[in-house]
Amino acid sequence: GGGAQQMKLVLLGDQGVGKSSLALRFVRGDFREDQEATIGAAFLTQTVNVQGKNIKFDIWDTAGQERYHSLAPMYYRGAQAAIVVYDITSTHSFEQAHSWVKELQKETGPDVIIALAGNKVDMAAETRAVMKEEAEKYAMEHGLFHLETSAKTGYNVQNLFQTLAQEIIRN
Ligand code: GTP
Ligand code: MG
Repeated sequence: GGGAQQMKLVLLGDQGVGKSSLALRFVRGDFREDQEATIGAAFLTQTVNVQGKNIKFDIWDTAGQERYHSLAPMYYRGAQAAIVVYDITSTHSFEQAHSWVKELQKETGPDVIIALAGNKVDMAAETRAVMKEEAEKYAMEHGLFHLETSAKTGYNVQNLFQTLAQEIIRN
């Protein structure tokens, strides 16, 4: 007995922000510069241990291209957690993240835990467009937790998923 507690998690965000790359970094520990755009959605699983409990993530990695937007509810319905991803080098992707947060908060229950991930922080020195403080302020005002991540270097990727698992256990 004593299997893992299952947790449905959905990744949402504009095309090219690094949703698949974050999922693949977390699940496989690798990164591809030539990661292809997702078609429809991809499904991955990964189990983590938090405070002696096994949490199995069922991860729906959605496609960010606009033509797939109407599919998103199939993936976020029934999810316990969502990661809304933007790219710190793109203000447009940050605006898109706001609209995903709005949609999630309208369409899902109040118990859904939402993380806001500012990805590609490895590019911050040269091409940052979204200030960390601005994103933190937005996250605070909307009851989200915020982290800057890099799927490329792995920075904060474990931390992101571990924090979600901890929040799930607390709920
Ligand atoms: P869709 O599936 O089209 O919605 O895109 P996505 O959000 O899944 O983005 P994807 O993971 O395919 O990454 C898009 C591009 O950004 C790829 O060339 C990745 O290699 C690159 N990329 C992803 N994460 C990072 C990162 O943290 N840093 C850098 N420098 N590049 C990244
Ligand atoms: Mg993808």
